[in-house]
Amino acid sequence: MDQNALKLAAAKLALDYVEDSAIIGVGTGSTINFFIAELIRTQARIKAAVSSSVASSDLLRAGGFDVIELNDAGPLSIYVDGADEITRDLAMIKGGGAALTREKIVAAASEKFICIADESKRVDVLGKFALPIEVIPMARSFVARELVKLGGHPEWRMREGKAVVTDNGNWILDVRGMTITNPVELETTINQIAGVVANGLFARRGADVLLLASKNGVECILRTP
Ligand code: A5P
Repeated sequence: MDQNALKLAAAKLALDYVEDSAIIGVGTGSTINFFIAELIRTQARIKAAVSSSVASSDLLRAGGFDVIELNDAGPLSIYVDGADEITRDLAMIKGGGAALTREKIVAAASEKFICIADESKRVDVLGKFALPIEVIPMARSFVARELVKLGGHPEWRMREGKAVVTDNGNWILDVRGMTITNPVELETTINQIAGVVANGLFARRGADVLLLASKNGVECILRTP
């Protein structure tokens, strides 16, 4: 089975959590694109969606769904999103698609975070995938120096020679070289650096459910209290 088939398998199972008339949170990335395609294919009877990126909002609207502001939605019952890395404890690194800040906000506003992923995302220890950090542009260099003090090797994210700009108008630092054995502590520490908007560790509010697809099927892993 190729990776896309696994992403689709996980996305299909996530539909079980989608209730009629609900306002749902929808994440960003290639795995979530399969979930959005499934919402469209099955003509899910949701009331509306709150999305974590312009890209996902565009796909949802093109599929005929209402996309509303979080401010107009109140608490969301579920948030469905992918991950770049996820542990057995359901702590994650996210932000490979630069949408981490909005992802963190929508996740925080949701009762249940359902992560959909193929088996390549499962790790024992977070940190092989470079940790994305969204920074206010004027703070880039300062934040980078602070991250070096924490043992990381930050790199300013560029695409085709230009700084990647997030949907919020900010820049991304990708931090390599960190073996993250205590993600909750590191998430808190990085949040306290002035100029950091959000970091890609989702450990304080990790996933509640992981639908992990492998060639043997989709395993449902629940967060243990
Ligand atoms: C977007 O910023 C990310 O957090 C994505 O959720 C994450 O990178 C997973 O993306 P893929 O599903 O494309 O691997």
